[in-house]
Amino acid sequence: MLRLQAPLPDRYTLATPGELDEWIRAAKEALGPRLLILGHHYQRDEVIRWADARGDSFKLARFAAEDDRATDIVFCGVHFMAESADILTGPHQRVVLPDLNAGCSMADMADLEQVEECWEHLAGVVDVDRVVPITYMNSSAALKAFVGEHGGAVCTSSNAAAVIEWALARGDRVLFFPDQHLGRNTARAMGFREADMPVWDPHLDQGGLEEREVKEATFLLWRGHCSVHQRFRPEHVTAFRQEHPDGIVIVHPECAAEVVELADHVGSTERILALVEQSPPGTELGIGTEIHMVARMAKEHPDRTVVSLDPLVCPCSTMFRIDPPHLAWALEHLVRGEVVNRIVVDERTAEWARVALRRMLEIT
Ligand code: 13P
Ligand code: SF4
Repeated sequence: MLRLQAPLPDRYTLATPGELDEWIRAAKEALGPRLLILGHHYQRDEVIRWADARGDSFKLARFAAEDDRATDIVFCGVHFMAESADILTGPHQRVVLPDLNAGCSMADMADLEQVEECWEHLAGVVDVDRVVPITYMNSSAALKAFVGEHGGAVCTSSNAAAVIEWALARGDRVLFFPDQHLGRNTARAMGFREADMPVWDPHLDQGGLEEREVKEATFLLWRGHCSVHQRFRPEHVTAFRQEHPDGIVIVHPECAAEVVELADHVGSTERILALVEQSPPGTELGIGTEIHMVARMAKEHPDRTVVSLDPLVCPCSTMFRIDPPHLAWALEHLVRGEVVNRIVVDERTAEWARVALRRMLEIT
């Protein structure tokens, strides 16, 4: 989705790191309890240090849903997270994304038109009332609304198994979008076979599937992926194990199944962090997730060896859009009573998307 962030005034782009820190601190003080800064674990150090709460996308959605004191919520994360926060917060609260270009390339791999087309096709092949659509949190509000309206729910990397179990108690099939890997890894961990989960390619006629494949499927996995997590390969795990024979491998479920298969643990960013924190001093950990988070864990736990599985590490370029200049710019406007980069989901979309998000919160 194309969103345009206007260039910042020179005051921010030419400021020194010290000046930016001072302005952010002063703005936070001036705004007091009416401000809540939420920070995803992939944010860079210079940004996450200002967050009042850190977390994975599930934990941050819960914060947004539960904190009704703050009127201004500044989301240091990506667009779909800020949209979800807007949907879950009250009418007296407004959500700001410091840089509008902070999107998510995976979320952009499924749009409403494509999903509606897929649904229409499924309706011609199977009883669509028995298909439960599940969307990963990494999707637009429009897709969350589609799911809410069609009896489905949202899931995150921390609760996908619980949400899928819930879905299979309600129907015969799950249409899972946009991340095929989270869908596949979760279904495999639940004991399903590759043949139970064909991939629906939105760019091919009829998703590239035969009617028979759709009829026999328990899952239809959308052909979407995260380019950051696709970089991790089985060879990285093998190389890490050669160098650290007693080491522990922890990966995010957006990694490919052949990587997840070789890992000791798989989990959301919050779970990865918890596993590192709970490991005894001296533990060697090879991590398969975004590099800013891995580097921070290494810095905060100098008595463990924490390394990225991929030596050529890849940052999430959209998470990286949020930087101190944009944060200072957004906060100083709030101090003046002006709101920049407010993320607003229209009420009709929000209504059904809220249903899908609340289902997820209730399931977990
Ligand atoms: P988490 O919910 O695990 O934080 O994941 C979000 C994400 O975008 C991972 O790429
Ligand atoms: Fe999206 Fe991947 Fe970045 Fe997560 S790491 S926000 S899935 S592009």
